[in-house]
Amino acid sequence: MKPAAAPPRTYRVKSFGCQMNVYDGERMAELLGDRGIAPASEGEDADLVILNTCHIREKAAEKVYSDIGRLVLAGKQAGKQPLIAVAGCVAQAEGEEIMRRAPAVSIVVGPQAYHRLPEMLGQAVQGKRATDTDMPAIAKFDALPQRKKRGPSAFLTVQEGCDKFCTYCVVPYTRGAEISRPFAHLVAEAQKLVEAGAKEITLLGQNVNAWRGEDDRGRRTGLAGLIHALARIDGLERIRYTTSHPNDMDDALIAAHGEVDKLMPYLHLPVQAGNDRILKAMNRQHTAESYLRVIERFRAARPDIALSGDFIVGFPGETEAEFEDTLRIVDEVRYAACFSFKYSPRPGTPAATMEGQIAPDVMADRLQRLQARLAHHQYAFNQASVGKTCAVLIDRTGRDPGQWLGKSPWLQSVWFEGDYAIGDLVEVTLADAGPNSLRGVVTTPA
Ligand code: 5AD
Ligand code: SF4
Repeated sequence: MKPAAAPPRTYRVKSFGCQMNVYDGERMAELLGDRGIAPASEGEDADLVILNTCHIREKAAEKVYSDIGRLVLAGKQAGKQPLIAVAGCVAQAEGEEIMRRAPAVSIVVGPQAYHRLPEMLGQAVQGKRATDTDMPAIAKFDALPQRKKRGPSAFLTVQEGCDKFCTYCVVPYTRGAEISRPFAHLVAEAQKLVEAGAKEITLLGQNVNAWRGEDDRGRRTGLAGLIHALARIDGLERIRYTTSHPNDMDDALIAAHGEVDKLMPYLHLPVQAGNDRILKAMNRQHTAESYLRVIERFRAARPDIALSGDFIVGFPGETEAEFEDTLRIVDEVRYAACFSFKYSPRPGTPAATMEGQIAPDVMADRLQRLQARLAHHQYAFNQASVGKTCAVLIDRTGRDPGQWLGKSPWLQSVWFEGDYAIGDLVEVTLADAGPNSLRGVVTTPA
């Protein structure tokens, strides 16, 4: 038992890692808001701090412990300790260990159990430490409140979990088996998001294109059917989805890119490596060639589609020649954007105990060479966009007054000037390209 605490009046959620954690963080905030707990303002010490953690790579757990340490120290200085909750994938993977090692933590709640947060908070206030890392498929979504007002761009989790078991990855262990949320729930949630001001919705899932459901006429459908239905929502202007697995692609989804105007010409399709022996050791269940064929089909359906991917360098046993196959596939695809990582052994995954772990300096060298190629292609993609006219959805203010930042259909950052507001969709001509952003000029004056 810990001493009883006053019920929290303010909270702060710190989300790390992927977009699904951002989504989960928002839903936890909505749960707390419904119970009259307000977000702490900038610089204010919150009564409740939720660390919404990520376990995908290096030192995730250490980061959590040092964050906890910092919170305790700040609490001592302020003369008042916050209630600390650890959520997300580190909570799922190391919940018991966290409770043992960090007495300051009152709540450990996994990604499938956070709908129980208010109840757990009730226990924590009484001094009872509470842990819930159960994985009941889907119960959480039914127990969450309505969506609240957000910015113009919203996330919507449609699918969660992973059955692929890539040998390097913790996700199948922390997020559980693949589940799809029901079609009707998703259409209703999207509608609420649009009513709350969203103009763009990004559908989220660890294997988003493995989503399956029954549409409003009782027909079995994949993600394409859901996208077609969402496109009928008035006021929703843009639809995106991430992350896809090459093996779950179906013809209907590829065709949707040529059929649905609201579906943005952008596809995040991780390949991880360009060498078939490594892909096999990773248990990716595709080859470099089969991946390239999927890309070809997308390009046939939507010639201007922008591609992005994820890469891991230094998987156990990767030779220099095998790494060079990754550089080759990068040159072949010419990605518009990318995420690349050094391999990080994750406890409990098969790759963590494989022979041939790669030395850090080799890994660093490969990452640097890969990132140079990726940066080259990203810049080339931006340069090739100059002269195009497109809509930009404003999501931020720029550096100076009257300056705006938003996203092009190809997810590039574009800045421009004029009399606008966040949430406006503005037609601009792309005038100059930098490596990471473009300058636009408004084509129709405000
Ligand atoms: N080491 C390095 N990168 C990883 N990823 C997943 N697991 C690991 C790991 N153990 C990367 C993959 C995945 C992205 C979300 O994180 O590239 O697509
Ligand atoms: Fe991890 Fe592979 Fe599943 Fe992606 S497909 S979440 S990399 S196991």
